Amino acid sequence: MSGPGMEIIGAEEKQEILDVLDAGYLFRYGSDDNPKFKAKVFNLEKVVAERVGVPYAVAVNSGTSALLTALGGLGVGPGDEVICTGYTFVASIASIIWARAVPILAEVDRTLNLDPEDVRRKITPRTKAIMVVHMLGNPARMDELKAIADEHKIFLIEDCAQAFGGSYKGRMLGSIGDVGTFSLNSNKMITAGEGGMVVTKDEPLYIRCFGIHDGGHSPLRKGLEVGKRPFVGVDYRMSELQAAVLLAQFRKLDAILSHLRANKKRFKAAIADLPGLEFREITDEQGECATLLTVFFPTEHVARQVANELDSKVIADSGWHVYSNMEHVLEKRTVTAEGCPFACPLYKGPEPKYWKGMLPQTDALLARAMNISIGVSDVGLGSGFGVTMRDGFDVVDERAETFRRAALKYL
Ligand SMILES: Cc1ncc(COP(=O)(O)O)c(C=O)c1O
Repeated sequence: MSGPGMEIIGAEEKQEILDVLDAGYLFRYGSDDNPKFKAKVFNLEKVVAERVGVPYAVAVNSGTSALLTALGGLGVGPGDEVICTGYTFVASIASIIWARAVPILAEVDRTLNLDPEDVRRKITPRTKAIMVVHMLGNPARMDELKAIADEHKIFLIEDCAQAFGGSYKGRMLGSIGDVGTFSLNSNKMITAGEGGMVVTKDEPLYIRCFGIHDGGHSPLRKGLEVGKRPFVGVDYRMSELQAAVLLAQFRKLDAILSHLRANKKRFKAAIADLPGLEFREITDEQGECATLLTVFFPTEHVARQVANELDSKVIADSGWHVYSNMEHVLEKRTVTAEGCPFACPLYKGPEPKYWKGMLPQTDALLARAMNISIGVSDVGLGSGFGVTMRDGFDVVDERAETFRRAALKYL
């Protein structure tokens, strides 16, 4: 399991780490007149905010804590519903549960991201937010989803964990909704093994998010602020070592994006004429991260045969990113016996229920879909077959030929 950034860890990351280690100061806060303090976290927040095109970023220790910070920042909590896709990593859904709100699962469409029509159907007076996931680096239908959020005066959270560097119609992912979150774990575009980021254009929201990630303190505190903290926060802080690696990785982002996009274009062109084969709908070819190439076969049967031939899996069988494989969500297994938020007296909706088959459109699409790795190889995504970040056109051509031969046996 690895993403493109991890494939190309090298001298630049080592140099950044040594910069911190040689100075011997690992904490994210320090004073400007301390030569040991390298302000890596601070600088990372600055460059990420600039890149995303928003004034504020808060670095955290994972994509999950970024989501928890965003939800808390928006005041999502007991009694609220958050609409989320059934095709995502469990962290999206888990963060809603840990915020003590009720996740309402909605269908994906041919983008494999939230289907705006189903989102519209699932809005209730209790809906506080839509959590859109730009799954596998492909921007969701943001025009439609933003319009729904605006119309109903609810929040739009962008889970950009899998889409760092992506954009939609010229706007960077993470900057379109009220708040955006990123994961920087080893499977993502850039990485320090673990890490996350929250971005927003809203100053009061930034202040709240900062406080949540750091014991209730205000942004970029100097020292402790006993007596002034507005609420109880936790510790999701990033360390200087993580930020050092991420600064080096960040400088590689454009090279990663153009390499992946070129490889994906070539792979796609090489298999485009296969009879009956269709591609996942990409909302913005220029803006997608191009980490995976997703294909739809005409039937589930054909899809399974081809995937099997290539030692891969259809997405429906690929494991932890599909709601129907999340037994702990389906069975509402919470950490305490009371079963909050599902059994919360503050929740006034009908008892939430989740079951295999509850999202038939999603199930049907994922059963005949297969992921081909372009830069993210992860069995959890069903992308065991394909190329990696280190591969060039020669390997792309060879794998595309292998795919053609396998597909033609069954198409
Ligand atoms: C869509 C999505 N959301 C959230 C997360 C959580 O990120 P992390 O693993 O850094 O906590 C991931 C990570 O895989 C993800 O893919």
